[in-house]
Amino acid sequence: MMRSFLDIASLSHDDLISLLDLTHQFKQGKSLSMTGQVASLFYENSTRTRVSFELAAIKLGLTPILIDIEHSSEAKGETVKDTIQTLHAMGIDSFVMRHKSEGLIHDLNEKLEGVRFVNAGDGKHSHPTQTLLDLYTMQQQLSDFSQAKVVVVGDIVHSRVANSLVCGLVKLGVGELVFCAPDYFLPEKVNGAMIEPDLKIALKDADVVMGLRVQKERFSPTFDASLDEYICSYQLSSDTLSYAKPDAVVMHPGPMNREVEITSELADSQRSLIWQQVKNGVYARMAVLSSLTR
Ligand code: CP
Repeated sequence: MMRSFLDIASLSHDDLISLLDLTHQFKQGKSLSMTGQVASLFYENSTRTRVSFELAAIKLGLTPILIDIEHSSEAKGETVKDTIQTLHAMGIDSFVMRHKSEGLIHDLNEKLEGVRFVNAGDGKHSHPTQTLLDLYTMQQQLSDFSQAKVVVVGDIVHSRVANSLVCGLVKLGVGELVFCAPDYFLPEKVNGAMIEPDLKIALKDADVVMGLRVQKERFSPTFDASLDEYICSYQLSSDTLSYAKPDAVVMHPGPMNREVEITSELADSQRSLIWQQVKNGVYARMAVLSSLTR
């Protein structure tokens, strides 16, 4: 049990295993009758994370409260902290939040005792529930993380998904973890991953290939890269996946830029676990919401 769920780094190995087990139990039909409300505060756009948290809350017996940020008092200058305190004063004590400001949710979690937070993505820093659903989806595919090779391909430098995923895979003792991207999409620190810029070499013997979205909205004004060159060297397709193991699978956190980082023919093929990831997201978020201390 935990008050808040902010990042994968704060979880012990056993906590992570317990959350994966709980995700599996919910997928197998475990039910709970919880009471209370969970407010969703999405200061950045979302489809799957927001809706899967709402569905997870409903399935657990909780009441989801969707705050329409665009029409909220944020537009009149209210701070995020005041918005949360306002909602807390009305009796809401659990908040699922996505915000572009890295670490803001950690600050609020420290300052607002008695409030439970779930991080639904903070800037480029962390997206821990995405990692939980990604690890669970991989676990269904792999017999043993320690024997597996996972390759992450794409815009890693702007990716909170990659940051959290590396942390989770290292905690689970993944056999081999490779980042494959051009220089301009690689972070300064890779924390446990190896770098291989050549896609065909990187994919050799891969069990799981995680494609990442090219996040144009996070490019700095001085960022200069050719999308055509990127597509030519790094696009995931059935052709490029043929360099991986014969039974390798492809994943993508979504939303996808079809025909940019991944072709439609691969995304919609039998080798794609993309819709499994989305489905498992509801169970992973049930696991997280039901583990917050009540
Ligand atoms: N993967 C993910 O976070 O998707 P959304 O932006 O649609 O929530």
